[in-house]
Amino acid sequence: MLFTGPSFPRHSVAALFAAAALCSTVGACSSSSSGTAPRTAPGAAAGGVTPLGDPAIPDRQAAQFPEQWRLKTGAGATFAAQVMAVSNSPAASAAAAQIMKDGGNAVDAAVALGFALAVTWPEAGNIGGGGYTIVRLADGRTAALDYREVAPLAATRNMYLDANGKLTDKSVYGHLASGVPGAVAGLTALLERYGTMKLAAVMKPAIALARDGFVVDTALSGSIERASKTLLRFQSNSPFTPNRKPLAAGARLVQPDLARTLQAIADQGPKAFYASWIADSLVAEMQRGGGIITKADLAAYTPVWRAPIRTSYRGYALLSMPPSSSGGVTMAEAMNVLEQYPTLPAYGSTRWFHLFGSAYQRAFIDRNAKLADPAFVPVPLAQLTSKNYAAKLRTTINDTRATPTRDLDAAMTQAAREPEHTTHYSVVDAHGNAVATTTTLNNSWGSSVWVRGAGFMLNDEMDDFAAQPGKPNMYGLVQGESNAIQPGKRMLSAMSPTIVLDPKDQVLLVVGAAGGPTIITGTSQVILNVIEHRMTLGDAMRAPRVHHQALPDSLTFEAGGIRPAVLDSLRGFGHAMRELRSLVNVNAIMRVKGGWEGLPEPRRSGGAIGY
Ligand code: GLY
Repeated sequence: MLFTGPSFPRHSVAALFAAAALCSTVGACSSSSSGTAPRTAPGAAAGGVTPLGDPAIPDRQAAQFPEQWRLKTGAGATFAAQVMAVSNSPAASAAAAQIMKDGGNAVDAAVALGFALAVTWPEAGNIGGGGYTIVRLADGRTAALDYREVAPLAATRNMYLDANGKLTDKSVYGHLASGVPGAVAGLTALLERYGTMKLAAVMKPAIALARDGFVVDTALSGSIERASKTLLRFQSNSPFTPNRKPLAAGARLVQPDLARTLQAIADQGPKAFYASWIADSLVAEMQRGGGIITKADLAAYTPVWRAPIRTSYRGYALLSMPPSSSGGVTMAEAMNVLEQYPTLPAYGSTRWFHLFGSAYQRAFIDRNAKLADPAFVPVPLAQLTSKNYAAKLRTTINDTRATPTRDLDAAMTQAAREPEHTTHYSVVDAHGNAVATTTTLNNSWGSSVWVRGAGFMLNDEMDDFAAQPGKPNMYGLVQGESNAIQPGKRMLSAMSPTIVLDPKDQVLLVVGAAGGPTIITGTSQVILNVIEHRMTLGDAMRAPRVHHQALPDSLTFEAGGIRPAVLDSLRGFGHAMRELRSLVNVNAIMRVKGGWEGLPEPRRSGGAIGY
């Protein structure tokens, strides 16, 4: 099999899925691709089989990128007629496709993918972190599942300040940085409500990958190498750094402890994680390193079913994540502002970047001041997502002049930072069921703490709280009071798993991203590139991206992604332009004539696999 992205694990996928005949080459699978159709109606819970229509969207138009931009227009995406799974790990995408070939629906496949990612993409895929999932079933039902971590019961508002009131790095590194993990509770709840297969069946690929190992690719070896110093600070015996050396590309990563943990979850369900020897191992690890998560914290953890944020953009419906994530609200608010313009300027023009940045500058001001865990803070959802409010915000945008963030309502100006490293996956099946999941340990490799005996990394999600409300944090940013630390509270997230429906109410896009606050702007740019600029999925994903989050008060852009004359004009408008090599790690699926196209982030690695 061939995979999109620069590198791929060779052995394990081939061994696991040799018989599968799955499509994964960019542009290589035709609509007559091999593969048997999945069982009819794999579970009434997931909705009956209805013939899937072609997308109700206008024809695509050729995109134009700056000459110096490193990703070219016109490159394709992987096509498959029936099902598609896209993630940052080819092996995990293959696991999902195989589950659907075995008769599972998109939910079964997404849960299989989530557990497999904890093995093959351990820097962000996880069972020691948390995430969010949006489901849209073929029969029209929708759901949002919040399995974000929560602050431990012993957490206190100032727990990350030293004796002089100065912020330490303990919210990022080490045992105190972790919130109570939600991933296992979330994935199992998702399967129970909307899946059709047994937990043990969907976890099989993950267990095999952990037990038998897989060949480490350059993406993973590079990630281990970059993190190895910190990983070694907290343990010397993890499988990622054998003999205190980072595992090299081509080596086999075998994770027997993780295999045992996954097997216990497969056999006993979530209580294995939250109330048995795995919980004991986690708590023992906490006690070894001065952490505060207890068995009572683990026993109390509960995922929350919520109604997705549902908004519309020029006749398309967007379903995305409500608080405790800021993703759906912020996206709805900014896109409502952009919708106020009868037509938007061409992609790549000065005015396009100016309007996009200005809309998000305003949405982030609200996001950073007003959004938080709704169990602790009243959140003005209806106001922030209303078209009337967007119309008012639109009047604050000058067409040729950037507004300094400090001149917008000062009470709204709280900042966000850009934590690395999250991961998103999208899955669709032949029935039209769609799942969008974003999951994270927060930073790459989370807190850098690996749970001895149980074999998984722990998150450093406590750093998504405002550790020092009203004062700059260790990144020089100011965070809001509403997101202060409180026991049992979920920290505000930017994760934005999103499903877009076309005007006929059929799934058009299943999309989401990694990259802290840039998740929101990155996800929305792919959506706007498809809806507004009529790009193919290939171009929509490769198009240069920008980002505005109110503070720092700058328009961030990708090197080579804006024509020099446009850059000059944007500076002339008053934008402080900030250049980065690369913005956002998006994974997306799009409905096209006769099937689906899938594309992992062209700036990173990953796999789009279907049949
Ligand atoms: N940890 C990144 C986020 O939740 O936004």
